[in-house]
Amino acid sequence: MCGIAGCICGKGGNAVPDVYEGLKRLEYRGYDSAGIAAVTDDGVTVVKKRGVVEKLFPHIGGMKGEIAIAHTRWATHGKPSDTNAHPHVSGGICLVHNGIIENYCELKEKLSREGETFLSETDSEVIAVLFKRNYSGSLTAALIKTVKELKGSYALMVICKEEHKIAVAKYKSPLIIGYGKDRIYCASDEPALAGKCSEISVLEDGDFALLSEDGAEIFDSRLRPVARKKQPNRAVSAELSLGGYPHYMLKELHEVPASVKNTFSAFSGVESEIVKTFSGVKRIIVTGCGTAYHAGLVGKRYFESFAGIPTDAETAGEFRYSEPVITDGTVVVAISQSGETADTVEAARLALSRGAKVVAVTNSPYSALTRLACVTVPVAAGAEICVAATKSYTGQIAALYLTALAVAGETADGERAARLADMPALCAKTIENVNVSSLAHMCAKSKGVYFMGRDLDYAVAREGSLKLKEVSYIPSEGYPAGELKHGTLALISPKTVSVVIITDKALAEKSVNAVEQVLARKGKAAVITNVDDVEDDLKGRAEIVRLPRCDKFLAPLAAAVAVQELAYRTAVKLRRNPDKPRNLAKSVTVE
Ligand code: F6R
Repeated sequence: MCGIAGCICGKGGNAVPDVYEGLKRLEYRGYDSAGIAAVTDDGVTVVKKRGVVEKLFPHIGGMKGEIAIAHTRWATHGKPSDTNAHPHVSGGICLVHNGIIENYCELKEKLSREGETFLSETDSEVIAVLFKRNYSGSLTAALIKTVKELKGSYALMVICKEEHKIAVAKYKSPLIIGYGKDRIYCASDEPALAGKCSEISVLEDGDFALLSEDGAEIFDSRLRPVARKKQPNRAVSAELSLGGYPHYMLKELHEVPASVKNTFSAFSGVESEIVKTFSGVKRIIVTGCGTAYHAGLVGKRYFESFAGIPTDAETAGEFRYSEPVITDGTVVVAISQSGETADTVEAARLALSRGAKVVAVTNSPYSALTRLACVTVPVAAGAEICVAATKSYTGQIAALYLTALAVAGETADGERAARLADMPALCAKTIENVNVSSLAHMCAKSKGVYFMGRDLDYAVAREGSLKLKEVSYIPSEGYPAGELKHGTLALISPKTVSVVIITDKALAEKSVNAVEQVLARKGKAAVITNVDDVEDDLKGRAEIVRLPRCDKFLAPLAAAVAVQELAYRTAVKLRRNPDKPRNLAKSVTVE
């Protein structure tokens, strides 16, 4: 959700290539427009263009500056355009912003009445104009004055030709500082700094910093100098490459086995703390957004079946506004790949303020969610670049499985945990053998795809539907198989495909009924299954995607691989770029 990158180096150095490379690595945060501003001998030079970061390349060949800031945009206020692209300039001030300024209309009206003019439709330009008015020779003083007038969220970087510095501020949008060999960096996220620096500091909400070629002076919200711990930069350049795959989505799908395996290994480091945190638990609420919420639906079943603890699953955006009943003994499990999703972080904050314990399940150990939580269950999926989540989802399911076992008093060397240890190999086998090509062809030609399942298969149906619509733009819905006849059947026609997921032998007959109902209405049908009888029943009448047999509680891992691959193949058939779905960004740090 917008990525920003900045770099400052010593005399004669050039910061422009570094911020350009940083932007390319942050593109998963938005790709509506991109821009770079650099302090050059002639003043400040700005290049900004609608579209992906690469569109800047032909225009920055001759651009050179010891200081540069850059931005890749996910449009919120104002359409994607050259004018709405960042950096925004007012007077000699140049600014990039990630976040949303909620009172920008009020501020814009006031500033317009006072004679200021605006070029863009963005909320961010208002900050640049305010800053210019507040600037009288000190970037830090102007920044402090400016942010006092803002309501909302921001990660800001500001430069001007008068000072050899970058001023930054952070509130509710992520920002890190990186310590390079002969330069200092600032960015939204670690991948931007891969290969550039091995150590970073994570800024806290309310922090300001002044970056110079010699280092970073950091101040807290009360303007007291503070030290923010230096931590290793986990992003590694090699890991961020495509590694011979045509898309990150396919590469990351092939990393599902490693994600499950590494999440399993990492769990032993937190097991005892998890047991302590859940001791005396009476109720669990699992929350997250999108795919993370879908992992939560699987997790709910684990907590109830393994540990017998009543568990609710709710999307974080709903949880926050639903007046949740939190009593003594409530644990809220907040799931997020990025650990920065605004609704999930705020849901965790709300839960804490009402006296619940919060357990984070995340891929991002330095994230806002990790910092808030009482304990974090690590999802060791590695960097996920494709906007659509794949390996993080399966990693989250593995993490929730182990957490539920720990709450149930089963150790990570117990029988059920051992079944998870077999899953990386089984997922690898699934990736190798699963054949969704013909089903992808059916989906690509259809007017709508309906995913159905019962119990855990229903949770995977929700995820399959989200993934397909996200990367292929085909209308889709995921719902419980039993609900078909209560409404959705009206939509079934020869132009629709219904995909029924069946991995629980005990429920197979009932789910096959749904397939029959679809066929009776002349709809196209497919099953994704590991139950032999289902295949025998439906051969020749429905498309069959075969999964390897496994424990019913772990079947969502293999089924997830199949639905993710289906979404990928469908998108590719339709010539969509699955890594950069239209209108989306990976890390949704605004509400
Ligand atoms: C879908 C997808 C999104 C995210 C959601 C939450 O493929 O990636 O639905 O799952 O935006 O993001 P995180 O997990 O970072 O909180």
